Amino acid sequence: MLAGLILSFHFHSLAYLRRMNILILGGGGREHALAWKIKQSPLCDQLFIAPGNPGTAGLGTNIHLSLKDFDKIRETIEANHIELVLIGPEEPLVLGLTDYLESHFDPAKVHIIGPTKIAAQLEGSKAFAKEFMEEFNIPTARYHSFIPSQIDDAIDYIQGMNTPIVVKADGLAAGKGVTICQSHHEAINEVKDMFDGKFGAASSVVVLEEFLSGKEFSVFVLTDGHDYKILPVAKDYKKIGERDAGPNTGGMGAVSPVSFVTASMMKEVEDKIIIPTIEGLNQKNYRYHGFVFIGLIEVGSIPYVIEYNCRMGDPETEVVMPRLKTDLVPLLLSLNQGTLASQNVEQINEAACTVVMVSGGYPGDYEKNKLISIPIVVPTSSIIFHSGTKMEDGHLLTNGGRVLAITSTGDHLSDALRSSYELIKQIDYEGQYFRKDIGFDV
Ligand code: AMP
Ligand code: GLY
Repeated sequence: MLAGLILSFHFHSLAYLRRMNILILGGGGREHALAWKIKQSPLCDQLFIAPGNPGTAGLGTNIHLSLKDFDKIRETIEANHIELVLIGPEEPLVLGLTDYLESHFDPAKVHIIGPTKIAAQLEGSKAFAKEFMEEFNIPTARYHSFIPSQIDDAIDYIQGMNTPIVVKADGLAAGKGVTICQSHHEAINEVKDMFDGKFGAASSVVVLEEFLSGKEFSVFVLTDGHDYKILPVAKDYKKIGERDAGPNTGGMGAVSPVSFVTASMMKEVEDKIIIPTIEGLNQKNYRYHGFVFIGLIEVGSIPYVIEYNCRMGDPETEVVMPRLKTDLVPLLLSLNQGTLASQNVEQINEAACTVVMVSGGYPGDYEKNKLISIPIVVPTSSIIFHSGTKMEDGHLLTNGGRVLAITSTGDHLSDALRSSYELIKQIDYEGQYFRKDIGFDV
């Protein structure tokens, strides 16, 4: 018996210690931060990022492919003897990439990290997420969902709501599908526009929601659908303008930890939101090996769920990974092995911030292909994560709305912020814009 135990222990630890080839899918700042973290693992042999970006090219091999081309992804896994696949963005998850890959590979040989298609609907359909929260008594804003044939009912429902009124497109809309309407009239027009195809198929179902007022923050949970581990808490800055003015963006910066999220608040979140969420996944039999990103709002002293995402956040990952002391690879491997509960997740005590540099005009129209000048040597307390960049003929060019995320760590958040803003002074491209007030409220 004892010999058997020792043998299986050895076998177990050997399985853990073997180096393996790893593939990260995605090409933004989030994937650069994940690659940066995974590259530090002694378990990482060759690292591949598809499609990756010029930042990830310095950490591994970029492979050019479309994340909608599931067959090509499967071939890439086979050709490069990949044993761990981490799916970064929501779109392939919502389209069922995990299910596709799990049907082609033995889970004991290729670990796929990302929820199944049905579980990813927690992000892919706001109506689905709301029903899930209702079923499992998870605190969230009161709501009702409508389809186009119910337009009259939707108008009646709006008339009975207090303003402001939150109008949401049900499906994925690149972070733009939510409008806060100040009047009933505006809400009715917004619903009509959505049904008329403002967000294509994503707004063929509309969710009307009560407006919640409070401070927002984000909690990240790694789960195998049964057990869970909580990662460092973060807060992102969604609005383009300083003091949270103007339209929403993908995220203009982030900080971690978040001073107003106390230990007792985290306990509330764990008891009232995280545990019921994992139990809900379990009860529904939704297979979920991956990250749950819970967008929260603190109303009084009660946390409410604003939204679920089925992946890590961007730019939150750019502060969460630098604060994660524990090796990410064994954590990811433990999801398939049923050993997540016995893993230790340690955070570093320092604070982290990231400041996102964007193209002029973003989140509206903007130009690309601007030459970026960037320092070659960066202080050890800072990292330049790439989002929308590309390399052409040896020149680094802008290639998206969000261009770079400048992350720093420090004993205090103010030290980290100072480092990021100092480094930004050494970065230049035409039309560059960034918020100068990241962390202003914490
Ligand atoms: P979402 O795409 O669901 O994360 O929503 C985008 C943003 O809209 C959130 O980060 C909030 O700032 C805001 N929002 C969404 N739902 C509500 C709500 N019920 N009350 C107040 N603000 C909301
Ligand atoms: N920063 C928000 C998101 O990743 O959805």
